[in-house]
Amino acid sequence: MSLPYSQDIPLDSLISVATEAARQAGAVLAECTRTGFRIEHKQIINLVTDADHKAEQRIIDIIHDAFPTHPVLAEERGLTEQPLSRYKWVIDPLDGTTNFAHGFPAYCVSIGVECDGHGIIGVVYDPTRDELFTAQVGQGAHLNGVPISVSSTDHLDHALLVTGFAYDIRESPNNNLSHFARFALKVQGLRRTGTAALDLCYVAAGRLDGFWEVKLNPWDVAAGVVILREAGGRVTDFKGNPHSIYEQELVASNGAIHQAMLDVLQEDANS
Ligand code: IPD
Ligand code: CA
Ligand code: CA
Repeated sequence: MSLPYSQDIPLDSLISVATEAARQAGAVLAECTRTGFRIEHKQIINLVTDADHKAEQRIIDIIHDAFPTHPVLAEERGLTEQPLSRYKWVIDPLDGTTNFAHGFPAYCVSIGVECDGHGIIGVVYDPTRDELFTAQVGQGAHLNGVPISVSSTDHLDHALLVTGFAYDIRESPNNNLSHFARFALKVQGLRRTGTAALDLCYVAAGRLDGFWEVKLNPWDVAAGVVILREAGGRVTDFKGNPHSIYEQELVASNGAIHQAMLDVLQEDANS
């Protein structure tokens, strides 16, 4: 496969640092579930815990030990100040904070790497199941080292979809509820897991057939979209245009039901 750039650091070096950072951050989260953690409110329903901050610090330390000049965009800390680099690490130390705070076992660590603005590495680690999803551009996607691929479900009647809601659900009319209602009447099943990074990995692994959400942040999806694409999936905005992790709309699917998902979102927009 020809790539739109050539990176000067081997993909293997990047993925091994990303994997080490994700596993160590997962160990930090597991330790916090045993020893306890403090919860603060960013807004009424938007939480952050000590565990988010500790895991984030561990990841940044590991990245900067290996690649001191690489900038890191991290959910809690924002963009680290670094000299210009072709590379950018985009990390969510704990995707699924609400689940984590409640002891609901659906959360993960998400680490993506961009080179010249293209997602080239995705690593998502679920410490509750010891599941490590990995992908390097052009080399397929894996779960614990075993290749994964998207499902072949080709009709919404047979599809299991997933979505999520942003923290401004109470204030914003663009809160995904009407899309949710419309899809609920067209699919076999609809889930809300509370972890966008794992949602993307589950579509990549064929456990789910499609995922959409509005108002996602780059750290929620940087790793997952690389994993999904490498597993043979498709990701776009709601109109079918190329997806950017810096834009808010995301439709991710096995490819076969993608147009049907876009049609539902478009019907909703036109009604
Ligand atoms: C959230 C989760 C959730 C999604 C929200 C995200 P956080 O991330 O990914 O599934 O619906 O939009 O903000 O706050 O748990 O890192
Ligand atoms: Ca997140
Ligand atoms: Ca988070």
